[in-house]
Amino acid sequence: MIKPDGVRRGLTPEILARIQRKGYRVVGLKQMVIARETAEAHYGEHKERPFFGELVDFITGGPVVAIALEGENAIAGWRAMMGATNPASAAPGTIRADFATSMGENVTHGSDSPESAARELGLFFAEGELLA
Ligand code: GTP
Ligand code: MG
Repeated sequence: MIKPDGVRRGLTPEILARIQRKGYRVVGLKQMVIARETAEAHYGEHKERPFFGELVDFITGGPVVAIALEGENAIAGWRAMMGATNPASAAPGTIRADFATSMGENVTHGSDSPESAARELGLFFAEGELLA
């Protein structure tokens, strides 16, 4: 997902270009504003964290671009392209190192396991919106 800060800053084409160069297949692509209850479900694992409210406010605060990627080892590969959650620790050349300045606004999101990918695809895409 390209988070609201990334969309607002016009980074969508740059990020899609990186995905294309990497060789992943885009099987779903959608610009949308996330409903609050969807965001709360999406970030459910962080419910008890002190920054949860801020996180939900941020992710619902403007359009995001939801992207469904397919490719060999795509979950770990996309997370490697994003870099560390905190951009100060992200490796040079990663999306977060190149574009993000804070932990809260770190440009992109990636599912962290096959289970969370399945859950998140179900939250953001309706049946029939993904290519076979
Ligand atoms: P996501 O792909 O967005 O899930 O990032 P991640 O898996 O690298 O990090 P994690 O799931 O642990 O946290 C989810 C998001 O919460 C992060 O991407 C940050 O934007 C935000 N976050 C995590 N820790 C903090 C924090 O201490 N303060 C604030 N403001 N945001 C945080
Ligand atoms: Mg996460």
